[in-house]
Amino acid sequence: MHKDLQEILISREELEAGVKNLAGRISRDYEGRCLTVVGVLKGCVLFMSDLVKNVSVDTRLDFMMLSSYSGAHSTGVVRILLDLKESIEDCDVLIVEDIVDSGLTMEYMLQNLKTRRPRSLEVCTLLDKPSRRKTDIPIKYTGFTLEDKFVVGYGLDYNGLYRNLPYIGVLNKETIEGKKTCL
Ligand code: IMP
Ligand code: MG
Repeated sequence: MHKDLQEILISREELEAGVKNLAGRISRDYEGRCLTVVGVLKGCVLFMSDLVKNVSVDTRLDFMMLSSYSGAHSTGVVRILLDLKESIEDCDVLIVEDIVDSGLTMEYMLQNLKTRRPRSLEVCTLLDKPSRRKTDIPIKYTGFTLEDKFVVGYGLDYNGLYRNLPYIGVLNKETIEGKKTCL
C-alpha cells in the first residue's frame, strides 16, 4: 500500500472483477450496435482503458475535459476545456466517469450531449457516492457504491497525484493536512 494511504477500499482484483462485470453487461446491452464511449478526463483514463478492452461490440472512443468552478462548495457551474472531436448525432453514446458525487458535473454533461441528438445516451461510472447527490441523474452502470469518503487511485486524484495507483484507497490525515504536491 502507498505510504500516504490509511486503507485500501477496493483492491486491484476487486476492480478487475467489477470492471469485467460492467463490460459484460455493456457488451450484451449494445449487441449488434456500434458504441461511442465518451470519457471524462482525466479521471476516466484507467477505468475506461480496462473497460473497453473487455467490451466486445464495435467501439469508438472520444473525450471531454470539464472544469467546475467548485472552490469550497460545488456550484454546478461547469466549463468545457476540451470538447468531443467527432459528432455524436444518431450514435449510441456511453459517458464513462470515475465518480459521481454531487452529480452536478454529470447533469451538465447529459444536458450538453443531449442537444447533439445522440440515438441513445447512458452513464457508466466506476464509483457512486449517492449520499452526496444534489441532483437526480440516471446512472445505468455503476461499478461500486461508496459511503461519503474522499478516495484516490485508479484515475482519481488529490491535488493531481495518486491517479496511477492500481487500487482505490483513502488518504491518511497527515497527507491531507500536508497538502502534498509534485512541485
Ligand atoms: P460532482 O460534480 O460533484 O459529481 O463531481 C464529480 C467530480 O468530482 C469527479 O469527476 C471527481 O473529479 C471529483 N471527485 C468527487 N469525489 C471524489 C473523490 O472521492 N476523490 C477524487 N475526486 C473526487
Ligand atoms: Mg472527474
